[in-house]
Amino acid sequence: MLEGKKIAIGVTGGIACYKVVTLVSRLVQAGAEVRVVMSEAATKLVSPLLFKEISGAPVAYDMWRGNDEFNVEHVALGRWCDLMVVAPATANIIGKMAGGIADDLLSTTLMACDKPKIICPAMNTNMLNNPAVVRNLETLRRDGILIMPSGAGYLACGINGAGRLPEPEDIKAYLDDFFAKRDGDLRGRRILVTAGGTREAIDPVRFIGNRSSGKMGYAIACDAARRGADVILVSGPTALAAPRNVTLIPVESTQEMLDACLTVYDSVDAVIKAAAVADYRPHEKAAQKIKKNEESLTIDLDKNPDILKLLGEKKTHQFLVGFAAETQNLIANAAAKVQKKHLDMIVANDVTAPGAGFSTDTNIVKLLFPDGSIKEPGLMSKEDVGNLILDIVRDQTAEK
Ligand code: PMT
Repeated sequence: MLEGKKIAIGVTGGIACYKVVTLVSRLVQAGAEVRVVMSEAATKLVSPLLFKEISGAPVAYDMWRGNDEFNVEHVALGRWCDLMVVAPATANIIGKMAGGIADDLLSTTLMACDKPKIICPAMNTNMLNNPAVVRNLETLRRDGILIMPSGAGYLACGINGAGRLPEPEDIKAYLDDFFAKRDGDLRGRRILVTAGGTREAIDPVRFIGNRSSGKMGYAIACDAARRGADVILVSGPTALAAPRNVTLIPVESTQEMLDACLTVYDSVDAVIKAAAVADYRPHEKAAQKIKKNEESLTIDLDKNPDILKLLGEKKTHQFLVGFAAETQNLIANAAAKVQKKHLDMIVANDVTAPGAGFSTDTNIVKLLFPDGSIKEPGLMSKEDVGNLILDIVRDQTAEK
């Protein structure tokens, strides 16, 4: 997302400004064009020469000493960039921006710039909590400036608390997300993804489950968010970390997954149901741990609701994608599910094939459509499978 983007970085005189050298380097490595504007205080902490070498471009910091690259520098920089970022943003620059003060090159550039702006506040915890700073940040938020939340941890003043400048990788990821929402090919789409396996409780310590790791669904959710979609991930228990920029709704049972899906169903443009859902649940959950007194144990099972079938019946505008986990008759079984569940597409995987199905990093899928057509892309990473599905979702849904 950062490739070819023009980013102006305003650096102010917070101790954390040394981290911005790494940020600039990461952005340049990602293909962005970066121009640095420094406050006078920042130049006392980090040499402009260092930023010049890392960004590969002249650094602006002196109102009165022109930079050959730009004519009327404070206006030209704002016109040149796609995005302006202030990192670290001290209480001082936040106050100036909120109060409309333009008394040096950075603050005048910020005022003249009509492009989106992101600030990364970083300061001592008491300063961050000071009512004036809280008020100024609120003003900036209302003015449409994006404020990246500061981190918590060890601060230069020797205490642990809120106010740390986020790590360069995290700021880079935040900028990536910004451009994904603005330019990604799934922007303006809201997509519901389900992942992982549901669990049906037998007693307080045991459950009926399956081998789903969640990797397939999480890969789709990550891909979709990276491409600018608004993603809701309803997930059974997994060992995976919550994906960035995705609304995660953790569930355990099939009924909980159904309830979560129904809550958001009307608002989504597409559903991708990669979750492995338990088809049956114990008729009764034992209140206490079942003791092993008998030679055999019989557990009566009741049929669970078929979530996807219910969504298919309620479908109005949603593009509905199911998965089919099969161990035999892959095409015939998957095709029957397309009809029975009113799907727009099914992703069939033979879960006994090496490199496919549960817990693997790869999958071998066949995409089946209601008109009987089939796509067979072969062995791919789960990420690539996700992107392939999402290409189709993009073409079948409209940006809102
Ligand atoms: O999580 P991983 O380890 O990465 O593994 C990926 C996967 C094998 C789980 C995934 O690729 C996959 O195949 N997911 C679907 C598993 C499944 O439940 O298949 P099914 O054929 O039983 O169900 C068909 C479809 O109906 C699925 O979209 C399923 O989510 C849905 N379903 C099934 C039963 C039910 N009661 N409600 C449902 O919504």
